Amino acid sequence: MIEFPDLEALSRHAAGELAALAASATGTLHVALSGGSTPKRLFAELVAMGKGALPWDRVELWWGDERCVPPDHPDSNYGMTKRALIDPLRLDPARVHRISGERDPEAAAADYERALVAALGTPPVFDLVWLGMGPDGHTASLFPGSPALAEQRRFCVANHVDSPLTHGKATRITLTHPALNAARLVRFLVAGADKADTLARVAAGADLPCTRVTGDVSWLVDAAAAAKLEKHP
Ligand code: 6PG
Repeated sequence: MIEFPDLEALSRHAAGELAALAASATGTLHVALSGGSTPKRLFAELVAMGKGALPWDRVELWWGDERCVPPDHPDSNYGMTKRALIDPLRLDPARVHRISGERDPEAAAADYERALVAALGTPPVFDLVWLGMGPDGHTASLFPGSPALAEQRRFCVANHVDSPLTHGKATRITLTHPALNAARLVRFLVAGADKADTLARVAAGADLPCTRVTGDVSWLVDAAAAAKLEKHP
């Protein structure tokens, strides 16, 4: 785990890593974004860097998950990203691949999976996946106890969740572990005191949806989220 004093420093690091990856990429860089609130600071950093800081014409954006709402709904991960990143940088919509949260979830998930496979192969290999972690250890929309945790074949599914974090029963569209685990790089961005207990469980090796993400995984955490980690001298 890499600890930063605060979310701003964490976000600046993550933005810098994307810039470096994009600059050194030989072709197109395919990046999967997370939803929730943590990425907003990262998006603000990318906007503050200015469009010229990255070869955005060689970056394609995807999502790790989406809520089953229209794109202009306040809960939409795409909608949040459009307001915070896509519109301010005037990114080319042709390189932005949103999940159709407004459609039938099963059909939307199947279509997204087809688009992923067509663009990134089988399994779809992202160059970079940014993920968050919920206080219950979920990531993307892979919640503890939810059916999608058992999915080992499909890359994107509709997941039927029942969690206080989704205010009870809800359907989400999410990448599965087979898709996340095929990525070249995975970066968890975790900030805030409300994540401290779970992050300590992660460090202790707990079996959680987020810890089932394997591969080249780095955890970028702020001091508040790291407060309950054992400090090694
Ligand atoms: C979502 C996200 C979800 C998020 C975590 C952390 O759709 O909400 O993909 O997995 O990353 O819940 O959310 P915060 O960043 O808001 O703490």
